[in-house]
Amino acid sequence: MTRIPHGTSGEPNPLRALDLDRLRRRTSMKWRTYPDDVLPLWVAEMDTPLAEPVVRALTDALALGDTGYPAGTAYAEALADFAEKRWGWTGLDVGRTAIVPDVMLGVVEMLRLVTGPGDAVVVNPPVYPPFFHFVAHMDRRVVQAPLGPDSRIDLGVLEECFRAAVAGGRRAAFLLCSPHNPTGTVHTAEELTAVARLADQYGVRVVADEIHAPLVVGDTDFVPYLSVPGGGRGLSLMSASKAWNLAGVKAALAVAGPESAADLALLPEEVGHGPSHLGAIAHTAALRDGTAWLDALLAGLDENRRLLAGLLARHLPAVAYRPGDATYLAWLDCRPLGLGDGPADVFLHRGRVALTCGIPFGSGGAGHVRLNLATSPEIITEAVRRMATALE
Ligand SMILES: Cc1ncc(COP(=O)(O)O)c(C=O)c1O
Repeated sequence: MTRIPHGTSGEPNPLRALDLDRLRRRTSMKWRTYPDDVLPLWVAEMDTPLAEPVVRALTDALALGDTGYPAGTAYAEALADFAEKRWGWTGLDVGRTAIVPDVMLGVVEMLRLVTGPGDAVVVNPPVYPPFFHFVAHMDRRVVQAPLGPDSRIDLGVLEECFRAAVAGGRRAAFLLCSPHNPTGTVHTAEELTAVARLADQYGVRVVADEIHAPLVVGDTDFVPYLSVPGGGRGLSLMSASKAWNLAGVKAALAVAGPESAADLALLPEEVGHGPSHLGAIAHTAALRDGTAWLDALLAGLDENRRLLAGLLARHLPAVAYRPGDATYLAWLDCRPLGLGDGPADVFLHRGRVALTCGIPFGSGGAGHVRLNLATSPEIITEAVRRMATALE
């Protein structure tokens, strides 16, 4: 695949556009879960205004009363075009896509296609907590194949888990998080090819959650799982929701490779009734016309990663932070602070700053917190000040 350099867009940094007073007027989960004296840097929402092309597409639709059911393949076409321009991937065939309500419900539906009740779903903890909840809720068994100490997939551990998962002739799936939430790890083509080889060897089906794919820093390549040799048996979930902050206007896409198209074709028609038409409109506009905004966001996130690293070194030098190459999440190892398994509680109650507790991320999560960097440098600075105060 040809590497496509990301441009510098000349757009203003969207992370600097909104002040705290304005943000506190929001009614979404990030801003309404804790009292007003708590600074929220937890759930993965971004403190940005919407990209202008998204606002325009939504307001045009509202002005027209275009609020019926979704139709057509515009979202998938926009994603295919984005994938080619951004990642040099020409293999996304619109005919092998299906619109789904959101990424997690898409994950559930894909797992339903390739596994049965009681079968194993392998995940790489520490990982996005709903991977555990949604998989358990659909009556599958979660099998943990922890990331290695370098936050990369440990292929030896993965192989052991694949072997155990298919024992007795059972079906099994690997729910890959790519890029990885919370560590920001961007899996390489070599790693993903090795995953595909193992999956093939053991007959494990790969479902790749690629929601964070557009949020990869400039000089790192995102590699779509379906693009690697052997990846064509996989199923991917993609969405504009994380990169353009569109979780409230729901839609996502399931994408099949050539060898999994027959599975995707079995997706029940009613699943396509879940996504919102306004969601599809917003996501399409983001992918089609929102790349300049995205580039400005990525530049801002890069600044924030460096800012956080500097602030931690100054105020909380015991906290270990290895900036990842993707997502807007920072995974902080607070074990040296001696605050026990759930330091997020201490930061919340003594520092009045809300971070995500590491424990629900599974093995390797205890003693960690996840900090959401998609906010202004001022808020990050204040958050670290509060975290340091909590230790006094
Ligand atoms: C890895 C991952 N998958 C899925 C989601 C949720 O996506 P959706 O709202 O489309 O279900 C998130 C949200 O943060 C995420 O980080």
